[in-house]
Amino acid sequence: MEKDLQNKIGHIIREKFHIDDFTPELIPTKKGFEGDITLPVFPLVKQLRRNPEEIAEIIGETLIRSEAYIDKYNVVGGFLNLTYTPQYFLEKVKKHALEENFGLNRVDKTQPATMVEYSSPNTNKPLHLGHIRNNLLGYSISEIIKATGKPVIKTQIINDRGIHICKSMLAWQKFGHGETPETTGIKGDHLVGKYYVEFDKHYRKQVAELTEKGMPEAQAKKEAPLMKEAQAMLRKWEEGDPETRQLWEMMNRWVLEGFAETYKELGVDFDVEYFESDTYLLGKKIVEKGLEKGIFYRKEDGSVWVDLTDEGLDEKLLLRADGTSVYITQDLGTAVKRFAEFDIDTLIYVVGNEQDYHFKVLFAILKKLGYSWAEKLYHLSYGMVELPHGKMKSREGTVVDADDLMKEMTETAGKISEELGKLEGFDEEEKKSLYIIIGIAALKYYILKVDPKKGILFDPKKSIDFNGNTGPFLQYAYVRIRSILNKAGEFEPDWNKSTVLDEREKSLIKALLRFPEVLALSAEGLNPAILANYIYDIVKKYNVLYQNLPILQAEESQRNLRLALSLWTGNVIRNGLKLLGIDVPDKM
Ligand code: ARG
Repeated sequence: MEKDLQNKIGHIIREKFHIDDFTPELIPTKKGFEGDITLPVFPLVKQLRRNPEEIAEIIGETLIRSEAYIDKYNVVGGFLNLTYTPQYFLEKVKKHALEENFGLNRVDKTQPATMVEYSSPNTNKPLHLGHIRNNLLGYSISEIIKATGKPVIKTQIINDRGIHICKSMLAWQKFGHGETPETTGIKGDHLVGKYYVEFDKHYRKQVAELTEKGMPEAQAKKEAPLMKEAQAMLRKWEEGDPETRQLWEMMNRWVLEGFAETYKELGVDFDVEYFESDTYLLGKKIVEKGLEKGIFYRKEDGSVWVDLTDEGLDEKLLLRADGTSVYITQDLGTAVKRFAEFDIDTLIYVVGNEQDYHFKVLFAILKKLGYSWAEKLYHLSYGMVELPHGKMKSREGTVVDADDLMKEMTETAGKISEELGKLEGFDEEEKKSLYIIIGIAALKYYILKVDPKKGILFDPKKSIDFNGNTGPFLQYAYVRIRSILNKAGEFEPDWNKSTVLDEREKSLIKALLRFPEVLALSAEGLNPAILANYIYDIVKKYNVLYQNLPILQAEESQRNLRLALSLWTGNVIRNGLKLLGIDVPDKM
């Protein structure tokens, strides 16, 4: 954090102890000790054969004499705790408070990019709650990485071919009576999803009929006429049968138009899209090549496999006996295509933890095939999101639909806002857009504040609580800061040299200064929760100040300082939330 101080200390160690190759590590002073920043001297003890207190004393003594911004020091064991002068902090406020984009870096386009794949749905049904977590994580991690200066390419793989899509297509053909999104007014992805459910209904019936006649269930599932028809349809698709392709294109278009609306409402976007139908053939070719090289092997029935037992994994099917490709086949093609088409040095797959094994296998295969970039693949695996039982059911009955959930959030935001009755002066349009901003923020923040690895129990009511660690609470804090600044009008970020710094001000300044470091940590850890909880911490610190110290009524020098701090805090809240995909309203 403190490069300058680090250099100074390095210099002292060279001068006083004649050690050249030592890089001092500075850490924030531990709670309960006096100081702002601490140097642990243990690493020097062995080389110098002196006791740690003595070493720390010498460094502290020298710093105090040579550095005007070090106020005092104390030594506890092998720790040298340093306290900055108030002036040091006041200078930082002057420097950063007016920076609109404090802590944000411009993207350095000369660097290779990080590619982030997220959402990546199948085209047989609409997006659900799981996709929402996926989208929010992928989007915010992309934005956070960009804010640290690295280029990012946001992408998806759209799994637009395969047996699942054929099921929807077949059911539509049989039971759809030519329905379209236009004739029914149903959003395209939901219409296709309806037929996926329809397929399942009829299929189950057939399976039940067969088992009643005495057929074992596993066999019945294979023999059911609808399943056979769906498989025949998939073969026809792979052969390029024009009628099948036409139906497929039409229904895929419906779905993709529906997805586009959902993405828009959720505020996420993509720079480039990959379609499984464009990459699976390349995947097949890669499998053939691996087969020739003896990396894969063919079983008697003609299916192709890879043996990963050496890596502690299983044997894995790569191509079925009938030559059709499986889920992982396209992933081989897609990865190769991505690294060929873009200057990327990292590819992050944001996918739920139920696919942990899939990605282990995928990465192992790509390594076996000898791709140098196979080391640069990363699976950002996240936990499930569940709802308190019985709270909300989707149209299709099993999972929570993304569109329904967003609508519900907006409605709840509206209800709560009206109950609180803070909306005088808002016209209907403004109210509507405010409810969306609040409702979506509640949803996003509730999900993003949790470590990606952990599961979430999503409680819509709790997420909109204006008093907890929630999106709306942070939005409200921002709006209040804006209103203070508006009331204050123009002010000079200037104060007396003698201005004293209250502990609460100092604590806020120290926290604000950490913003760039927090972004770096979130980016490195692929963890937006670090940023989310940091913003909450900033707001709490600001609120302590706001509740205990006068701002507008304070004496001029103090007033200017506190207004500057308010401005800086507001910027960090707004910019931080933006990276989480959360907007702030002007008033609420
Ligand atoms: N479409 C898949 C599913 O819904 C997820 C795709 C994940 N990404 C990948 N490259 N395999 O389960």
